[in-house]
Amino acid sequence: MAVVDSTWSPSSWRDREALQQPAWPDREAVARVVGRLHTLPPLVFAGEARQVQAALAQVAQGKAFLLQAGDCAESFHDFERLTETGAAYSAVMIRQRLQILLQMAAVLTYGAALPVLKVGRIAGQFVKPRSRDVEVTPDGEIPVFRGHMVHDDLPTLDARLPDPARILEGYHLSASTLNLVRGFTKGGFADLTQVHAWNQDFVATSSQGKRYEALASEIERALAFMAACGIDLAATPQLHQVDVWTSHEGLLLDYEEGLTRRDSLTGDWYDCSAHMLWIGDRTRAPDGAHVEFFSGVHNPIGIKLGPSAAPEEVVELCERLNPERLAGRLTLITRMGAARVAGALPPLLRAVADAEHEVVWVCDPMHGNGFTTAGGRKTRHFDAIMAEIEAFFAACREEGVWPGGVHLEYTGEDVTECLGGSEELAEEHLDARYETLCDPRLNGRQSLDLAFRLAELMRR
Ligand code: PEP
Ligand code: CO
Repeated sequence: MAVVDSTWSPSSWRDREALQQPAWPDREAVARVVGRLHTLPPLVFAGEARQVQAALAQVAQGKAFLLQAGDCAESFHDFERLTETGAAYSAVMIRQRLQILLQMAAVLTYGAALPVLKVGRIAGQFVKPRSRDVEVTPDGEIPVFRGHMVHDDLPTLDARLPDPARILEGYHLSASTLNLVRGFTKGGFADLTQVHAWNQDFVATSSQGKRYEALASEIERALAFMAACGIDLAATPQLHQVDVWTSHEGLLLDYEEGLTRRDSLTGDWYDCSAHMLWIGDRTRAPDGAHVEFFSGVHNPIGIKLGPSAAPEEVVELCERLNPERLAGRLTLITRMGAARVAGALPPLLRAVADAEHEVVWVCDPMHGNGFTTAGGRKTRHFDAIMAEIEAFFAACREEGVWPGGVHLEYTGEDVTECLGGSEELAEEHLDARYETLCDPRLNGRQSLDLAFRLAELMRR
């Protein structure tokens, strides 16, 4: 068993300052929900979290690439409606997200000839940190929206009253989402022979969709070539199943504590709400509650690093969260904004290398590049997103560090939330289908576009 600070327990975070927690009107009701969570099955198995950590160790060594991607904030509403043809919208939405993730991964794997570790922001990404506590409405100030596991998004005082029953609802929706993800990825849908079928209508007709069709045909020819050489494709499980792991920001510590269990095999504690969890840029204070909580669980952990992250603080976080320097334990996810990467990232890369911490370096090109249009829409431009990824690769290469992956916000659907891309989405298009609950997401075409450009960057 690993040595952890003997004062740590799943609830020791309660003695520290926990930022970004909802103002629950009834703390006892929250405690009852935590008690109930303790009685429910874990969502993931500790052995799976160890597999992800082992795969991340491969990424840290430059032998694989991490694709971590999904919604900014998952929505309870996606589980409350039907499609035009009467199907459960939730199932369609999850399938479309998986299709795009599998397409992006195929483009990167084939284009860069590297294994791609696929981790969704999915099955638990229901809570959001916010820069302001309140939102101004025509009827006055109301609490800002913090995610559906806390309250509803309607802009009224009533709707924004935190309700702990939603934590349990979020648990059940996470369980059913994960169940379908497992079904799709293990049951034939992710079979490489389906590589053409992942191309959905609204994507297939676009230039990126056509480029994808050509790549899918090349993959098919490669498979046919292997079969002709006598390789038994049917007996090669890697071609028929993939692993798509889950992750979310471990923000709501009551929820995370409620799903923390001692692994029967190793005796170690694991947060069984997801395979991988990350600490947000706003809650990464080294002596804060989030770092305390995640220092004691054995899942692989990410830390978001914005422009305010100082080199010595990042090294301190590495020490606190990975004192044993386990390979794959820590992923540092930088989100500086395209213009700041060249100045802010190299000192962090150097400080971590000098302290001899082996980590996975990942670029989140989304959260440092947001702005609000004159029309009042929160958006990001595809070019700024690509520029941040390019600057990240350049800084890593300059410092001799492996650019280990990207962290993206996307949806499988044809939304209009981010500007630019090959379709040249402009400000006047944003209103057409702007559906996000929080940050603007890449649509299916923009995601694929990004994957092709990223594969080129990786080959260079
Ligand atoms: C997020 O990933 O949705 C987020 C809020 O990120 P950050 O902590 O980097 O701001
Ligand atoms: Co976001």
